[in-house]
Amino acid sequence: MDIVLSGIRSTGKLHLGNYYGALRNFIRMQEDNRCYFFIADIHSLTTHPEPKMLHENVKNVLVDYLAAGIDPEKSVIYVQSDLIETSELYLYLNMHAYLGELSKTASFKEKARKQPENINAGLLTYPTLMAADILIHNSDKVPVGKDQEQHLEMTRKFARRFNNFYEVEYFKEPVAYNFGNELVKIPGLDGSGKMGKSEGNAIYLSDTPKEIEKKVKRALTDSGPTMPNSVMPDYIENLFTILRVVSTPEVVKHYEDKWNSCDIRYGDMKMQLAEDIIKVTSPIRKRILEIEKDDDYLKKVTREGAEKARESASKTIKDVRSIMGFKKF
Ligand code: TRP
Repeated sequence: MDIVLSGIRSTGKLHLGNYYGALRNFIRMQEDNRCYFFIADIHSLTTHPEPKMLHENVKNVLVDYLAAGIDPEKSVIYVQSDLIETSELYLYLNMHAYLGELSKTASFKEKARKQPENINAGLLTYPTLMAADILIHNSDKVPVGKDQEQHLEMTRKFARRFNNFYEVEYFKEPVAYNFGNELVKIPGLDGSGKMGKSEGNAIYLSDTPKEIEKKVKRALTDSGPTMPNSVMPDYIENLFTILRVVSTPEVVKHYEDKWNSCDIRYGDMKMQLAEDIIKVTSPIRKRILEIEKDDDYLKKVTREGAEKARESASKTIKDVRSIMGFKKF
């Protein structure tokens, strides 16, 4: 079986974009791969979360993983900071990662622009930590969105460089893994780009039906098209994009026709959209409410996950140390 690995940073609750962009694929992948899904809490430290929030954030993602259907019987679910081997590999990989390439990474440049007061070394070496996450299990396939492709490319580069430098064929070069067609990118409700935790435009898997209705109702619209078959402005196109994901083809066609004939009623469309989003999220929300109360279960899942992750990680570290020349007296 191929080894699949992916992680999500614990910076908040998961939203519809995470569900369609990641979780739903993870759930399908766990049927015929050896899957590792982890919670990237060390990566979340680059933006200096309050210690009070750190554990809560990890819990949120863990509960969302489980509620969405990642099954600890099928996949290895663990917390990044529980697997200390990752941090050790990160340290070694950093010795072969260069300032020039790290500082040219798109995500680094963007973060540096957004938070000029906190351009820390962790931000710079974010790609080596991600490479360590992936290489610690010698993963074959990594389900990631477009925004992570450069990091994956760097992971391959680091793997290749390690192999070349130490003249071994040790690390595999992991490839991006997505199901069949292109990944759906869920837009935000504010007419801007992607749905994001920090943008304030997200529908969370844990949102109540009321909250979802409120958020959808608030979404930006206008007075409607005046010419038949007009091109949609981005904020309307975005609503249709979400509709296409959560509703039936008939519903989508109905509103497309209404748009094209200039008698679309956004109020109706939004009601339908909210209803169909709720259909997707409410069973997940129900499970979130059950699982988040069950501390014993969460403890068991993370303990067993870390144990299983350690089986493969400790072997990698042992091999890497020996390849690099560490020896015991
Ligand atoms: N960088 C990823 C993100 O922000 C999260 C992540 C960390 C990850 N380590 C990973 C994803 C390893 C895939 C594999 O979305």
